[in-house]
Amino acid sequence: MPTILAIESSCDETAVAVVSGGAGVRARVRASLVSSQIDLHREYGGVVPELASRNHLLRLRPLVERAMEEAGCRIGELDAVAATSGPGLASSLLIGSTAAKGIALAAGIPYLGVNHLEGHLLSPFIDRTGVPRHLSLIISGGHTLLVGVESAGKYRRIGGTRDDAAGEAYDKVGKMLGLPYPGGPEIEKAAHRGDPAAFAFPRPMLRDVHHDFSFSGMKTAVLYTLRKLDPPYPVPDLAASFQRALIDILTGKTIRAARDLGYDMVAVSGGVSMNRAVRAAFERACADHGLGFAIADAEFRTDNAAMIGFAGLLRQLAGKSTPLESDIHPHLPLV
Ligand code: KG4
Ligand code: ZN
Repeated sequence: MPTILAIESSCDETAVAVVSGGAGVRARVRASLVSSQIDLHREYGGVVPELASRNHLLRLRPLVERAMEEAGCRIGELDAVAATSGPGLASSLLIGSTAAKGIALAAGIPYLGVNHLEGHLLSPFIDRTGVPRHLSLIISGGHTLLVGVESAGKYRRIGGTRDDAAGEAYDKVGKMLGLPYPGGPEIEKAAHRGDPAAFAFPRPMLRDVHHDFSFSGMKTAVLYTLRKLDPPYPVPDLAASFQRALIDILTGKTIRAARDLGYDMVAVSGGVSMNRAVRAAFERACADHGLGFAIADAEFRTDNAAMIGFAGLLRQLAGKSTPLESDIHPHLPLV
């Protein structure tokens, strides 16, 4: 059974994993370590690319050593080394992909450049024996994408955001409400104590026939609402109302696309799928419409290397590899 060492360094998490598996066999994540830089970037209210790449460089080597030790794996037992080649921050992608190429070269094994979005898309299926036909919604800090999946590697773009990503909307609204970075988890916490019907925020494009999203208008709506209010702001009510509107859009558009296009299963991945209200709303909506629902284990929903290892493993099993001369692609599309 092939064993893959995988590195993820597209943004502010340095992550390393060791994944083994074979065709039609459940993949085994033998180690999956994430060294988060969130605390480092928090004081700047967002990711500082220069800081991120320097820290990937400092953290990567010890993390690779720890992951290999945890997996009980020696370099000689690896079959390929995978790394995220895009999309992401150029200087961050370079660290992980260069390290992966170096290890692959030294070990005389193939290098696999993996699309970060494919990693997210496949993450709900790491513990399954195959990737069924389904409609995939990727909701992360940088992307909001609806993809029709025929099988692993066969993807069709159904829709996506025309401006901000869902996670970006969470983070920007969080900032406006004076919450720490990243705003997503903070808004979720504040929303528990709030009334989702307190403010009527818009649901852009919810009723449109196309399958695209737009979130920048929601951010503006929150801003205009804040301007009309006197501090202290009712943060829990604002957070709950914003979250309700965002969830209505995500579930409404995804379920309609699944029904329009004849998919009988929906999968949700990416950092925003960590949100319990988002997950519960999808579970309910899918059950109501007789659709299957898949979501990754919590540890594989935010950025991690196991999903990159799993995507790499499927490519390795399909007999593919990436030339060592290949470059990183900060704007690499999935489809
Ligand atoms: O997938 P991810 O770790 O990285 C990217 O590829 O972007 O996603 C990070 C995003 C951030 O915008 C963060 O605020 C959001 O996921 N996020 C959440 C929650 N946890 C993380 N959004 C809403 N609720 C959460 N609990
Ligand atoms: Zn991501």
